[in-house]
Amino acid sequence: MYKEKIAEVKKSLSNVFTNISDLKTLENIRIEYMGKNGKITELSSMIKEIPNEDKKDFGIALNEVKNIFNENFEKIKKELEEKAINEKLVKEAVDVTLPGTKIKNGAPNILEKIIEEVESVFMSMGYDVVDGPEIEEDHYNFELLNIPKGHPARDAQDTFYVKDEDYLLRSQTSPVQARVMLASGGDKPIRMICPGKTYRRDADDATHSHQFMQIEGLLVDKDVSLSDLKGTFDVIAKKLFGEDCVTRFRPSYYQFTEPSVETDISCFACKGKGCSLCKNTGWITVSGAGIVHPNVLRNCGYDPKVWTGFAFGFGAERLAMLKYGINDIRTFYQTDLRELENFDRREDD
Ligand code: DAH
Repeated sequence: MYKEKIAEVKKSLSNVFTNISDLKTLENIRIEYMGKNGKITELSSMIKEIPNEDKKDFGIALNEVKNIFNENFEKIKKELEEKAINEKLVKEAVDVTLPGTKIKNGAPNILEKIIEEVESVFMSMGYDVVDGPEIEEDHYNFELLNIPKGHPARDAQDTFYVKDEDYLLRSQTSPVQARVMLASGGDKPIRMICPGKTYRRDADDATHSHQFMQIEGLLVDKDVSLSDLKGTFDVIAKKLFGEDCVTRFRPSYYQFTEPSVETDISCFACKGKGCSLCKNTGWITVSGAGIVHPNVLRNCGYDPKVWTGFAFGFGAERLAMLKYGINDIRTFYQTDLRELENFDRREDD
């Protein structure tokens, strides 16, 4: 009886494993034979009814069927799994020759670059780069610089006062001159530049920003004259705007310098012929400067009979706008990524 049953299951196994194309069908076959009510499972449970003397033969025959099942099952399972992996590999194949997605690179802000450029030219001439506070005392921002309280020169600098009249957001980087002179003790030569943020109550437009950057410079030594300032300025102008750049001084007025000048460079766009950039004058103004006023030297601990010096103040945005053809100062502060990427490209030009 059991022999026929085993033979029957064994026979059915001979064609059940043909043409199986997916793992789901194979799993159904496993359930059909080895599941809870599967054909082989049922055969196994017959053992209880088998007379003892037949149990051994039954066991051998049953094992043979199980082995046939397992061998076929494992073999096909392996084949189907490999096939699935291969299909997946084909489907998900990566074409390594396709162009990749460009990762956006950060680019240094052009303002930062200009400042670094100016710093490195001055450092090559022995200048220190120094820092000063942005919240400044009236004393340094104005009084030591020969601009006493109530002086009309204060009106030119629309100042943000922070706390009563004594503290303010510095309206210029010139107070750092006073700080450096006072810290030097009045008996040492000084060569320093100070790039930094400055603030004024200006309404923002294409050429004004309530916060902008200046690069202050100060040299104090003995027998310093306007021609030293001119020579220094010539070097800077040529380094920043090209070897064929020439410079000139125009008389001006600042409380902390006497004489005071506006420094011009020949227009690098038209080479002095006259164009829209230089408003047809052939010249572009890039800084205020002059010989340090004796009152300022005295206020800051330097004897004006012994020491002389020159000072200057560049507008950093103005330098960058000129050099890179940017016509709106707000561009620097709007953090528009497209514009910042453009900075990178401008630099490559
Ligand atoms: N502090 C001046 C300003 O903000 C610029 C300046 C002019 C600075 C002449 C100087 C200087 O050191 O000598 O307008």
